[in-house]
Amino acid sequence: MLFAALGSGWGDTPGRAAGEPEPLWAYGFSTPPAPGDKAVPQSPPSRALRPNEDPLVQTRLRRVAGSSAMYSRVDIRDLGNVIDWFRGDHPPLSQIIAHGSPSVGNAARGCASCHLPTGKGRPENAPVTGLPVVYFIQQMEDFRDGLRVSSDPRKPNTPTMMLLAKAMTDAEIRTAAEYFGAIKWTPWTRVVETDLVPKTRIEGNLF
Ligand code: HEC
Repeated sequence: MLFAALGSGWGDTPGRAAGEPEPLWAYGFSTPPAPGDKAVPQSPPSRALRPNEDPLVQTRLRRVAGSSAMYSRVDIRDLGNVIDWFRGDHPPLSQIIAHGSPSVGNAARGCASCHLPTGKGRPENAPVTGLPVVYFIQQMEDFRDGLRVSSDPRKPNTPTMMLLAKAMTDAEIRTAAEYFGAIKWTPWTRVVETDLVPKTRIEGNLF
């Protein structure tokens, strides 16, 4: 909404000349969108193995440093049942945060699958921790009403946000807003200024 207020339309970002393209890296693409390009919808969460996968590898339980939790790769990518490595970092996960709204049917995803149980988000989405409840609800209403879209029409996860927001009830939206709003923001990203950056590639909508 801030973008629309300051520029002449979508794609105009403060500090950027009118008509100047958005930086592709921020959206996880290496070439500009062609006319008519649109996002390929994200598939519903699934625990199914892909044809080339070894069941023993995919179902082997794994750990991460500092956590006693154990999950397999199948668990990790089951976005309808969010995994939780560090339970002490956040309030108990509710239905919406861990599994999503039942009214989304088999496409339901827990909010924490993308935004993480702490709400601090991953690079391809958005941090939602500590947002004012009123602002959070407004964003959900804007996704629902088609007023908030991505500057890059190919970005697939913004349409997923719109799908989830359309299906959710006002009470569910408020519960999610209150969950994330109650978590205090703490430093999460470390910026390193350097002359030479590591070689990067695009995978899963991010560099
Ligand atoms: C598929 C991944 C995904 C899931 C699941 C998801 N989100 Fe998002 N969310 C995003 C992305 C990507 C954005 C940023 C979209 C953009 O600005 O184009 C976003 C943005 C938001 C924002 C706006 C944040 C801001 O600073 O303006 C809110 C609020 C939000 N999500 C709430 C939720 C809630 C509530 C749920 C669970 C019902 C949820 N999200 C589930 C990917 C996801």
